[in-house]
Amino acid sequence: MQSLAIVGAQWGDEGKGKVVDYLARHADVVVRYAGGNNAGHTVVVKDQKTVLHLIPSGVLHPRKIGVLGNGMVVDPAVLLQEMADLRRRKIVLHPGNFFISDRAHLILPYHRRIDLAREKSKSRKKIGTTGRGIGPAYEDKANRCGLRFSDLLNKDLFEEKLRSVIREKNLYLKAILQEPKLNASAVLREYLGYRERLRRFVTDTSLLLDRLLKEGKKVLFEGAQGTLLDLDHGTYPFVTSSSAAVGGVFSGCGIGPLSLQSILGVIKAYTTRVGEGPFPTELQDEVGAHLRREGDEFGATTGRPRRCGWFDAVVGRYSVRLNGFTGMALTKLDTLTGLNPLRICTGYRIGRRLVTEFPSDLEDLERAVPVYEDLPGWREEIRSARRFEDLPQATIQYLRRLESLLGVPFSFISLGPQREQTIVLQNPFST
Ligand code: GDP
Ligand code: IMO
Ligand code: MG
Repeated sequence: MQSLAIVGAQWGDEGKGKVVDYLARHADVVVRYAGGNNAGHTVVVKDQKTVLHLIPSGVLHPRKIGVLGNGMVVDPAVLLQEMADLRRRKIVLHPGNFFISDRAHLILPYHRRIDLAREKSKSRKKIGTTGRGIGPAYEDKANRCGLRFSDLLNKDLFEEKLRSVIREKNLYLKAILQEPKLNASAVLREYLGYRERLRRFVTDTSLLLDRLLKEGKKVLFEGAQGTLLDLDHGTYPFVTSSSAAVGGVFSGCGIGPLSLQSILGVIKAYTTRVGEGPFPTELQDEVGAHLRREGDEFGATTGRPRRCGWFDAVVGRYSVRLNGFTGMALTKLDTLTGLNPLRICTGYRIGRRLVTEFPSDLEDLERAVPVYEDLPGWREEIRSARRFEDLPQATIQYLRRLESLLGVPFSFISLGPQREQTIVLQNPFST
């Protein structure tokens, strides 16, 4: 097995950071393919917690190559800060182990300003974005007025393009959003400073990955966000603006689909979501509070409390279908300890209809009433289990039921944030 994608199967924050970190020890290269610093991937090693927003989680292991693919939108100030934080811990990114795609788009100050102003605006539906400028940056990409890392390499051309875009953005900021204008010269100075510090990392990463794959290097593609936040397949318009599902690997890295052998879906033993949008199994009661408290469900990027609810097998099966998962990593099983009964949503009642396939219609989703199946809970502490057989009977029964509803075997079961709090059933890199 040479290459593996790790993809969020729900609304993000499934524990991708932990799973990527766990598997990165077997990989040579770790690549982010979509999103930007809206992501917050947590890795806990002993008493040290690291949250990475742009740099692939795998770099915490020595001698790994990190790549930011062309599908990303990158805020250079955040990237430099993250690099500096790692350097203080003796993890040094240099032009031999870290690469930024020359086709990746830059997040500029007007993107953040537009994102925040739209979220405040009463005339627009609030999405509950992370406020990092992600949507407006992808909007410019689609609108063919985005600035890429390759533009940064040519100083004069960069200045020309930036000034022209800022002229247009200032009109929009002032007239439509009633926001202050940006000073083009100040933005230019700031970004030319980033240019000096980042240009040595910029390269054609599609070419690089092709070479590394041909050399037989093991490559891990680190998904950000989750399938239900995917621009095409998620709960539109309450989604992010990139291809978070597995399709994003190919468009976001410039490799062919047959380069990928395994696709690991990361799924929580319950469901969470940050921001607005439909969430059929959401719980606003004591059980929801238990999940938030015991699972420490507060956003790794914005600190917002995450909305919590029961496991939704309709969402899970939808995600399996869209991504073609070859295995699943089930995370946060320990958070369910002490709850009884455990409920699994197997379908929705929408008006008089019983629906078992995830609907595309937002109104349908908003009035969907979950149909639940109840299973017995357990009270035993499970975080220290290292083998499947060590788990209580009720836990095994819950896992078996989830597996049969998803139709994909569990490769990993995560029982806590630490690396060793993991049961490995099938390591894709060892086949
Ligand atoms: P990501 O965005 O998918 O990487 O997930 P986040 O890092 O945003 O959120 C997952 C949170 O759950 C982090 O705080 C992790 O340290 C933590 N975590 C991961 N796996 C487990 C687990 O199995 N049990 C518990 N209790 N916490 C976990
Ligand atoms: P990771 O990689 C959870 C959500 C935001 C909002 C919507 C749009 O840590 O799983 P955006 O700023 O992207 O325009 O916001 O998407 N969102 C995430 N939710 N985890 C994430 O990333 C997310 N990235 C974006 O909360 O609802
Ligand atoms: Mg996260």
